[in-house]
Amino acid sequence: MTNKQHKIDIEHWPFDHSRWSEWQSLAEQVKLGHIIEGCRKQQILEQTYCLAGLIDQQIVGLLLFVVQPIGPEMDIPMIKDGAGNILTEAKIRAFEVLESYQRRGVGTALQQETLAFARELGCYQVRSRSELDKTANYSIKMKLGFGMHPAFRVFDAESKSAGVYWVKAV
Ligand SMILES: CC(C)(COP(=O)(O)OP(=O)(O)OC[C@H]1O[C@@H](n2cnc3c(N)ncnc32)[C@H](O)[C@@H]1OP(=O)(O)O)[C@@H](O)C(=O)NCCC(=O)NCCS
Repeated sequence: MTNKQHKIDIEHWPFDHSRWSEWQSLAEQVKLGHIIEGCRKQQILEQTYCLAGLIDQQIVGLLLFVVQPIGPEMDIPMIKDGAGNILTEAKIRAFEVLESYQRRGVGTALQQETLAFARELGCYQVRSRSELDKTANYSIKMKLGFGMHPAFRVFDAESKSAGVYWVKAV
């Protein structure tokens, strides 16, 4: 996907991509370096997809999503369609654009590509979660037509955090 006006490219970078180390460096720079390690520990690397947002071929943004059955992450049994097929979703776990490159459309392009790719992969929906202060993310999700489900994330008996789950069928 290319946006000629701002020379934005969105590319899929699998773990064996020649520029993979740049994705990991950017993730570390924006304090998301733990994301891949988390997927490795959960043994879901094969279902993990990384997108790179490029301006003039320089990586300035990233998005990572995991393809998973719908339900178990919320402690609910796998949800099936009317024919008994397990439904899957692309769950976004990381989404960030370098501050100095924000508001040029890279974030929107990363989300649009995720919607298109999730459809290709046979997912029923794209889902993500954000805290209440993520204003830019809220704008993008609303412009792209995501539904909004407010919910607390409960850490333990004494701490919980208010946020929103964003869901869009693809
Ligand atoms: C969310 C984020 C990835 C968006 O990246 P981006 O490349 O700036 O996004 P876009 O340029 O496509 O912005 C699209 C729209 O979002 C809104 N937006 C973007 N930045 C905004 C800001 N700082 N304040 C308010 N609205 C904002 C605008 O409506 C903008 O459209 P416009 O520029 O035409 O007005 C980026 O702001 C970011 O990295 N934020 C910090 C990390 C984060 O919050 N990630 C989401 C975690 S849930």
